[in-house]
Amino acid sequence: MSYDARLRVWRGDADGGALQDYRVEVHDGEVVLDVVHRLQATQAPDLAVRWNCKAGKCGSCSAEVNGRPRLLCMTQMAGFEPDEPVTITPLRTFPVIRDLVTDVSFNYAKAREIPSFAPPPDLAPGEYRMAQVDVERSQEFRKCIECFLCQDVCHVLRDHEENKAAYAGPRFLMRVAELEMHPLDVADRVDAVQDEHGLGRCNITKCCTEVCPEGIRITDNALIPMKERVADRRYDPLVWLGRTISRR
Ligand code: SF4
Ligand code: F3S
Ligand code: FES
Repeated sequence: MSYDARLRVWRGDADGGALQDYRVEVHDGEVVLDVVHRLQATQAPDLAVRWNCKAGKCGSCSAEVNGRPRLLCMTQMAGFEPDEPVTITPLRTFPVIRDLVTDVSFNYAKAREIPSFAPPPDLAPGEYRMAQVDVERSQEFRKCIECFLCQDVCHVLRDHEENKAAYAGPRFLMRVAELEMHPLDVADRVDAVQDEHGLGRCNITKCCTEVCPEGIRITDNALIPMKERVADRRYDPLVWLGRTISRR
């Protein structure tokens, strides 16, 4: 079966833009990215859209569909009624370059702020040993495809440009958690996650977890355990007493 979908696509650049209406043919089994490509091929050859794998693995085709952060290549057209307008807009949290392409370099800057894996200095590479349970814990976080949909949806960034300097966002708070939970990482990351990467600004809304295309339980498995570590260190009365006595 095929039909003409009602597409509304944001066209513009850093100076401004608007939604434009198109009618584009859709065939059975197609995803939004297929229809965007047909639009490019038939009506809007200058439409800018970033993509690479069309398999949900490169994280390039992130945008918003009907206001929800999505991978264009993993969003089935069958999820919309044939006469329903499908509105495609660029990620709202990052500056627009053109049309559906945004500048996500904020995320690369945040990645560089996190000190890398720090194994014990006397441990030779061939001597690394980990329990399977520890491998599995960090493996969940390693599934991240860096689509930045979680960064886009988190209200701490999305609604507050002024927070960007002091808040790493869920993807990078999760990276700190991955390293902190790694049994061979000797760096102490608990104070930094709160003071430098802004964990305290996350109020556990879980929107990041809801939009993650890899199904990573960002909030439950990374952010909340890190909050617990911060609380244990800073607010546990026994730890506080021990620190106070040791300072005397
Ligand atoms: Fe994308 Fe999930 Fe990674 Fe966030 S954690 S960047 S939503 S894959
Ligand atoms: Fe943001 Fe996720 Fe926390 S959406 S507020 S980082 S739980
Ligand atoms: Fe690679 Fe969509 S094109 S994730």
